[in-house]
Amino acid sequence: MHVRTADFGADYAAIRRIRFAVFVDEQRVPPELELDERDAHCTHALALATDGTPIGTGRIDVDGKIGRVAVAAAARGTGIGRALMEHLHRVAREHGLNEVWCNAQIGAVPFYERLGYACVGEHFFEAGIEHVRMHARLV
Ligand code: COA
Repeated sequence: MHVRTADFGADYAAIRRIRFAVFVDEQRVPPELELDERDAHCTHALALATDGTPIGTGRIDVDGKIGRVAVAAAARGTGIGRALMEHLHRVAREHGLNEVWCNAQIGAVPFYERLGYACVGEHFFEAGIEHVRMHARLV
């Protein structure tokens, strides 16, 4: 497995396929909410299996907001999510950011905590799923 920065043009279809499988098919997020106008402004990370199959993705916006972190169900629990996040943190540092944040699904809070994130503020619902804002300082 390896993680690289995606080519927005060439890799976007693969990114969308992973996100649709995870967020729309699995988590029942309405497809119109999965799509937003921020994709064109974000840097995207893509994880590839050793045979080149795309198996994970995530994005970072210009303000340090990380989102759309998704690993194919069959590939979870093997360090791909962590590798995607570490790649996005490197991108953040290259962009001069020393803090990153996300709106985490409650079920993913322990995943982000292991990466140095802490919850800030109240829980809220987005796309019918309970979330909380989390921040991390990059060292
Ligand atoms: N609860 C508790 N711990 C979790 C966890 C969870 N839901 N998901 C991962 N972890 C832990 C792992 O045990 C591991 O701990 P370690 O470093 O101490 O060994 C660490 O987090 C990294 O795990 P990793 O294998 O890299 O995560 P992953 O590849 O399974 O990806 C998600 C994690 C959340 C991206 C993946 O489960 C996923 O795509 N979920 C569906 C989409 C989603 O919820 N995205 C987040 C939106 S906010």
